[in-house]
Amino acid sequence: MISKHLPLTDLHRHLDGNIRIQTILELGQQFGMALPANDLESLRPHVQIVEAEPSLVAFLSKLDWGVAVLGDLEACRRVAYENVEDALNARIDYAELRFSPYYMAMKHQLPVAGVVEAVVDGVRAGCRDFGIKANLIGIMSRTFGTQACQQELDALLSQKDHLIAVDLAGDELGQPGNQFVGHFKQVRDAGLQVTVHAGEAAGPESMWQAIQELGAVRIGHGVKAVEDARLMDYLAEHKIGIESCLTSNIQTSTVASLAGHPLKQFLDHGILACLNTDDPAVEGIELPYEYEVAAPKAGLTQEQIRQAQINGLELAFLSDSEKKELR
Ligand code: ADE
Ligand code: ZN
Repeated sequence: MISKHLPLTDLHRHLDGNIRIQTILELGQQFGMALPANDLESLRPHVQIVEAEPSLVAFLSKLDWGVAVLGDLEACRRVAYENVEDALNARIDYAELRFSPYYMAMKHQLPVAGVVEAVVDGVRAGCRDFGIKANLIGIMSRTFGTQACQQELDALLSQKDHLIAVDLAGDELGQPGNQFVGHFKQVRDAGLQVTVHAGEAAGPESMWQAIQELGAVRIGHGVKAVEDARLMDYLAEHKIGIESCLTSNIQTSTVASLAGHPLKQFLDHGILACLNTDDPAVEGIELPYEYEVAAPKAGLTQEQIRQAQINGLELAFLSDSEKKELR
């Protein structure tokens, strides 16, 4: 259960992985695009996971229609705005919304920096209208290679005052983290925090790389840490946060079953792990499902679920006074 006495956070939530099916339909129509189906229920299996995909890359292809309909910057602003409303509806008090402006810009060749501005504007308007707190994490999409990531980073850093952190997402196996050492030096030099998707498709060495070479203070997923006892100790000792996304890990075939998910072991080991969604619309879940259904199935006790909620607040990229204001 979610504790009503503690703020509820979602620190790992892709806004470009959370585009409403109805919005995909409406934007598709607005921009005269041929979608694979023209009503909500027929479109659903094209944009939402029906059963576990065989790999992370197969899972990620389900996000493609959502960004393909972003025909102008106003469409980008709209989905950012709707994401804040979705977070409110999921009872979230504080969200860290992440997005890849290169991925969002790609299909219609929108200006990448313009996409960043539109997202900043949409989230700001959403926070004002829906009364919740949100911050933005910029993503470099490693899938498209190091040069595209530099272009993406330039656009993100042009708006760095509106971001709290930069992440590396996409094809972890195909594009290892050690290619992005220079990119993340720029991120840290700009005064931004670092979180990296690691130990999801690749092994513990990818997590060591993220921490030691890229400067990650939080890790997205980090499931493979259980394969490395020294890494487990390191995570606990150095308070490296693990942004767990239980349902996503099933749907990407990162873990075979919730009962075998390592989140419980992370918490037992004193690692700061928290519960998050990843790509809620694509997964067909929301944060309360992760707390109320997925976490108990993963063997967490009620006390551990509460600890995960406390960890979410501790790991948030917020100052102590901002955290107090959330309580
Ligand atoms: N982008 C959206 N969801 C992702 C995931 N689970 N892993 C890597 N990149 C992503
Ligand atoms: Zn993610």
